[in-house]
Amino acid sequence: MKNIDIERFKNLTFNDFRILALDNSLSMYQKIGFPDSYRKGKEALIFNDIISKLKYFNQSNKVILDIGIGCSGLAIMMIERCRKNNHTLVAIDSQEMLELLPNEDFIRKIPGYFPDVPEVFERYGDKVDSILTYSVFHYVFNKGNIFKFIDKALSLLKDEGELLIGDIPNVCKRKRFFKSEAGIKYHQEYTGTNEIPEGEFSIFETDLIDDGVILSILQRYRNYG
Ligand SMILES: C[S@@+](CC[C@H](N)C(=O)[O-])C[C@H]1O[C@@H](n2cnc3c(N)ncnc32)[C@H](O)[C@@H]1O
Repeated sequence: MKNIDIERFKNLTFNDFRILALDNSLSMYQKIGFPDSYRKGKEALIFNDIISKLKYFNQSNKVILDIGIGCSGLAIMMIERCRKNNHTLVAIDSQEMLELLPNEDFIRKIPGYFPDVPEVFERYGDKVDSILTYSVFHYVFNKGNIFKFIDKALSLLKDEGELLIGDIPNVCKRKRFFKSEAGIKYHQEYTGTNEIPEGEFSIFETDLIDDGVILSILQRYRNYG
């Protein structure tokens, strides 16, 4: 089942996610493109990691924007924390995905494919304290323009606002991990075999995010202060 799910959820597009959102045979994790084993029981850990990195999230009365909020437990944790801290939560995703989330006064749902959502820029340009986009960036890398995505996201931030791009699957990082003792042990436990994980550094992997992409992002936005 695990492998079937991994194949099924490979290379998803924004439209594929809309179809998943409408499929009531799927769990909340599968609707956002993950086998249950990737997320079940782990989302509280992910959430704690996110809020440890977003300083405004822990304050109150801020504007928090989530690009690709999805519909799983992580989205619900975001919502509950925003309720508790009196934040406004601007939630961007497809109409189908947003309909799976509760309707509340403090949540502003804006359906659409970011950054092609003019309403967000009209209403929230220079007004957002924290932006989160978690497990979304590799879909933008595959189908869109990552620099336009980040440029436009940054244009929404107030002075000293913050943007967290979370869960970027950097293939070089993965390879480094699989070259380490801990990585080999992890792989062997996961697969139940004695095999050494694959991962050649000299192979050019065209559709995957690597150190080059990450470092180019750092360089571009450092140069903008
Ligand atoms: C893997 S899910 C992650 C959901 C959520 N952030 C989480 O980590 O639980 C990716 C989500 O991003 C949405 N998405 C992908 N590209 C997007 C874009 N350019 N603009 C808005 N939403 C996007 C998909 O519809 C999907 O709900």
